[in-house]
Amino acid sequence: MYLSFPLVRSLGFPFGPPNFGTMCRSAIPYCIISIKKIVHTRVQISYLLYLRACLCVWRRVLLDFNRSALEAIGDTPLVKLNRVIPGSASDVYIKLEYCNPTGSYKDRMAVAMVEGAEREGLLKPGYTIIEYTGGNTGSSLAFVCSVKGYKLKIVTTDAVSEEKRNTMKAFGADLTIVPSNGGKVTPDLIPRMRAKVEELGKESNTYRTNQFYNRHALRGYNRLGEEILEQLDGKVDAFVVAVGTAGCAMGVAETLKARNPETKVLLIEPAESPVISTGSPGTHDIEGIGLGFVPPLLRRELYDKVLTVKEADAKAMARKLSLQEGIFAGTSTGANVMGALEASKTLGTGRNVVTLAVDTGFKYLSTELYR
Ligand SMILES: Cc1ncc(COP(=O)(O)O)c(C=O)c1O
Repeated sequence: MYLSFPLVRSLGFPFGPPNFGTMCRSAIPYCIISIKKIVHTRVQISYLLYLRACLCVWRRVLLDFNRSALEAIGDTPLVKLNRVIPGSASDVYIKLEYCNPTGSYKDRMAVAMVEGAEREGLLKPGYTIIEYTGGNTGSSLAFVCSVKGYKLKIVTTDAVSEEKRNTMKAFGADLTIVPSNGGKVTPDLIPRMRAKVEELGKESNTYRTNQFYNRHALRGYNRLGEEILEQLDGKVDAFVVAVGTAGCAMGVAETLKARNPETKVLLIEPAESPVISTGSPGTHDIEGIGLGFVPPLLRRELYDKVLTVKEADAKAMARKLSLQEGIFAGTSTGANVMGALEASKTLGTGRNVVTLAVDTGFKYLSTELYR
């Protein structure tokens, strides 16, 4: 309460007996002043709080830190290919998905699958996640589980590189290895891995991400499509991508075709195992694609054509990319670029063709690709 000296004097105490009416009348201006002061102080406090909030926002902008490593996923660079492109062809852009935290685009789908299951209440603290994978999905899941504190059991195979198996272990995954036929992807390999994962999934407090059917995976790749559109100002004439689960192809295609139905989506599969184009599975050595069956996530209305690429050509292109473009990636990236070159010749100049550097070449240093 603001009882100042003039207020006390106006009440008449120092100069004679107080008169109640005069007292009330003379108190009014001082009460108003007091209320004004209180309001003023409140306004000042709110202003200070506002300044503090602004400071917090600016501190976040200026310091530019992330709340966890998961926020490092996405926003990867898009690079124009300059030297492996023939004349009179479209411009070809490659999105460097190996810049994601575990070195592949699978980080996008792993976090989308885990957070989708959390939202639906299917995955709770203390649960163990179970998946069968060629290694990139496993590495991404292991990374997400390490950040979020879930246990992870992975069924994988010796047909995938040692680097991928070691990465999963480094992030704390528990691995079960299904032996392959001489390190090759044969049509019976995935069914044997699936049988093993079904056995593990019977344990209590487990959650199977089931990447071959998981629709949350597509949400993770929708963002990849949005990034491509932002980076090329919406001008994408063709998107070329090799298919394993088809999660990436379908997720990106959903976004691109929603923006412009005229954008062509071209899928790639190994010439040695052309299941989508001819229905005949075969044996090959391109990790992550051509799994020997038509992936359940594939939707006919979301792609325009399937191209086949020979394993040897994909490997030669992967090596050429590191020697001539400074792009160090795996064999499926070589297949993607082979397909993109074909599309760029067909479409001709003045068009934009986009493809992906799926994963980093560091994952294949011990394999025949870079030895
Ligand atoms: C190296 C590599 N390339 C391509 C793919 C295919 O991606 P998707 O499963 O989204 O079709 C994968 C999938 O595991 C992969 O590991």
